Amino acid sequence: MPTFQTLPGFREFYPEDLARRNHIFRLWRRTATTFGFSEYDAPVLEPLELYKAKSGEEIENQLFSFKDKGDREVALRPEMTPTVCRLVGARANALKRPIKWFSIAEFYRYERMQKGRGRCFSQFNADIFGEPGPEAEIELIALLVQCLCAFGLTEEDFRVRLSDRNLWLYYLETLGLDAPRIRGVLGAIDRYEKYGDDAFKGYTEQFGALDAGVKEKILSFLQIKSLESLESVLAASGGEKLTARLADWRKLLDGLAAMGLARFVEVDLGVVRGLAYYTGFVFEAFDRRGELRALAGGGRYDDLVEKLGGPALPATGFAIGDMTFALLLEQRGLLPNLVQASDVYCVIGGAAERKAAFADIQALRAAGHRVEYPIKETAFGKQFKTAAESGARLALIYGTEELAKGVVKLRDLGERTEREIPRGDVVAAVRDFLGGPQG
Ligand code: HAM
Repeated sequence: MPTFQTLPGFREFYPEDLARRNHIFRLWRRTATTFGFSEYDAPVLEPLELYKAKSGEEIENQLFSFKDKGDREVALRPEMTPTVCRLVGARANALKRPIKWFSIAEFYRYERMQKGRGRCFSQFNADIFGEPGPEAEIELIALLVQCLCAFGLTEEDFRVRLSDRNLWLYYLETLGLDAPRIRGVLGAIDRYEKYGDDAFKGYTEQFGALDAGVKEKILSFLQIKSLESLESVLAASGGEKLTARLADWRKLLDGLAAMGLARFVEVDLGVVRGLAYYTGFVFEAFDRRGELRALAGGGRYDDLVEKLGGPALPATGFAIGDMTFALLLEQRGLLPNLVQASDVYCVIGGAAERKAAFADIQALRAAGHRVEYPIKETAFGKQFKTAAESGARLALIYGTEELAKGVVKLRDLGERTEREIPRGDVVAAVRDFLGGPQG
């Protein structure tokens, strides 16, 4: 056993694990590109101030923070949203709108560890800046769905729960609650699924018990599962703001339906999101069986760019975490065991043959082929066994006899056939056989 262990909640990636993570990142990246999003990156270490009072109490309590040698208060990033707001805010005028950006990066939160939750995890973040209407949400939810479907997941495996902090705000206002009480109720709703009625404890401690009639209305509003029910419940409340908001809902759901994505999306007012900065539509993705923690979460945060010193700029986005996602793929048998095999394995006679082989190996690698050979001189027979087990498609055989004739033997390891090729033709013959460099 090594003396030093990894810190609790931190992960190590052995090559086969990293191959799986890279596979996930590769498909996310490819999907984002097909949606016209541009990739960015930013520092892992940020000023502590960036998260204070912006991300919300829960994340603030989970920060890995310390003072650096210059006496600055710093924190490992727990999320990307404040950072990307700073980046976009600093160049908002020069950037072509709408600004559609994505990143794949690692984050740190000092959380209680559980299945699918660690202290160091990766997220795929996608955000749109400069678009105030629900058109941005259509694009983002479509991207979120495709990022999951790209791996073979279907509507049987996951759903996107869609809700709206604005609608809650308007509704709670019509019930006569003021801003601090509204915040208190939204906090309770965020916890309600997990804690049931206990979720209101904090509210009661702060403001006294909620009026029974008001609470009943809130709990039945929470049960609404369709736009039609929303419209009929809210018809009585009336008001311009509500009518306009319901039109946004209609636009969003119609847009997703036109993309053929309605089957993935459910109206679910139980989602309000814990993070402090959300202002409008919010959504989370979960596995259908409800066995795992959230796969993804996001929403609109129209005030954050300005709060962080930039111009007023509407924004909305989401993040998928890699841990729950990998668990779901594994459960469904959709995470392949990725074999990292070479294209070509070279079997080499003795010291003289090595010289000839090395020149070809170098040329083949420069042409983009994955080539392996025994690093140390090894018995001929043993090398054939290694070649067969290596997963390579081809073996090149550099024996004394072959070299005397000016040829190399090319063996198709799948078909178990062999032929001789002139030494000068090795690169071309391998390229013909494999069909160009392997990706
Ligand atoms: P979040 O809900 O805190 O949102 O995280 C998004 C996803 O990251 C979660 O659904 C989960 O899959 C993953 N995640 C979060 N914490 C952990 C953890 N400790 N261990 C493993 N996975 C975790 C945000 O971070 C927002 N900044 C997303 C966003 C982007 N909103 C707008 N743009």
